[in-house]
Amino acid sequence: MQAYVRLEDSGLIEARPRSGYYVRSRPSRQAAEPVMSSPPAVSTDVNVANLVFDVLEAIKHPEIVPLGSAFPSPEHFPTERLNRAAADAARQLPVWSSVRDLPPGNLELRRLIALRYAEAGVEIAPEDIVITCGAMEAINLGLNAVAKPGDIIAIESPTFYSTLLSIERMGMKVVEIATSPRDGIDLGSLQNALDTLDVAACLVMSNFQNPLGASMPDEKKRELVAMLAKANTPLIEDDVYAELYFGNTRPRPAKAFDRSGLVLHCGSFAKCLAPGSRIGWITPGRFKSEIERLKFVSTISTSSLPQAALAEYLKHGGYERHLRGFRQRLAEALAAMTEAVTKHFPAGCRLTQPQGGYMLWVEMPKSIDALRLHQLALAEGISVAPGPLFSVKRKYKNFVRLNYGHFDVKSTVNAVRTLGRLGADLMR
Ligand SMILES: Cc1ncc(COP(=O)(O)O)c(C=O)c1O
Repeated sequence: MQAYVRLEDSGLIEARPRSGYYVRSRPSRQAAEPVMSSPPAVSTDVNVANLVFDVLEAIKHPEIVPLGSAFPSPEHFPTERLNRAAADAARQLPVWSSVRDLPPGNLELRRLIALRYAEAGVEIAPEDIVITCGAMEAINLGLNAVAKPGDIIAIESPTFYSTLLSIERMGMKVVEIATSPRDGIDLGSLQNALDTLDVAACLVMSNFQNPLGASMPDEKKRELVAMLAKANTPLIEDDVYAELYFGNTRPRPAKAFDRSGLVLHCGSFAKCLAPGSRIGWITPGRFKSEIERLKFVSTISTSSLPQAALAEYLKHGGYERHLRGFRQRLAEALAAMTEAVTKHFPAGCRLTQPQGGYMLWVEMPKSIDALRLHQLALAEGISVAPGPLFSVKRKYKNFVRLNYGHFDVKSTVNAVRTLGRLGADLMR
């Protein structure tokens, strides 16, 4: 057993649940990881909207291989079982549900979410959870609860473009903090920003960061929470990928270390189970009543039926089984995409080694302009998410984020081969 553990740690073999150990297929050469960027500790207005919408438009067309999408393929999800749960829930929906499900939302669903927190070692009561329209609404409510226009939000660099759009729309500013592709936000740089700027809040993806795939170790999460508590600065924790881990256990959120109620933890079923349900939640700590009021004045409530349908599925639908299969497929797709990028992209590319989620972040040679690659790829029926989307200063000009959550691994690998050829053309 020790020999197996040593071989697995060295990446030579892999364990497959209920099957045994297998020799791992390895790329012919192992590409290096991208290095951490070092943005200056100054605050900046945000302006990324046009670029984001140009790229998002391409994702809507089903004939395009969606390597630029932020969603996994809908084919990964247990649609039939979800539909059955929705039908059962609809038949039993109480007359008073529209009133009972007003914020904080459906009690049974909150109870089941609290149970999942407990399984991850976090003590959260159903009363501490507010149901939202996806994590995006949770993040927006969190930002509105802790900051106002003109305030500075500390964010990771690179970071998820929709969050940048939200901050832009709210008239807030950002300070971009260097973030390691392996273990997340750099605490020294964050401390420096806290010391030199009037930071109103910090927004962090603690597990499988989008686009880096980085995950903070528990000790670092603990330190982050303590650092922010000392500065009395709220932490909005965006944790939508936590269920999609490739290791043995679900990673804990930073919220697990929150003793002062300053962490607002945002979760969602959109990435791991039911994107169309638009069900997410926030566990807002000491900001609960403010969040409930903001939710009420923005959308009144989340629809009753999707809440009841998800509660029904979580009780009887086989969620754990679905997640096991989904994680396994994603881990295999990651191996295939890593191998394809290593083989087909121009020499000198660097790529991340995510331990969960479905995003690969690729640094290409400086002479490859990711926006140009995006245009050329679209003409060949492939979308990519170009690096400048992920920064207020439109940095990462030679980076792309590739989604390996597409169901058809073969077409993903073919698309990567095409991207490699286009990249090589751009270097000429
Ligand atoms: C990091 C991150 N946070 C939040 C969201 C939004 O989640 P939801 O679809 O639940 O609103 C996404 C979606 O792509 C995401 O990648």
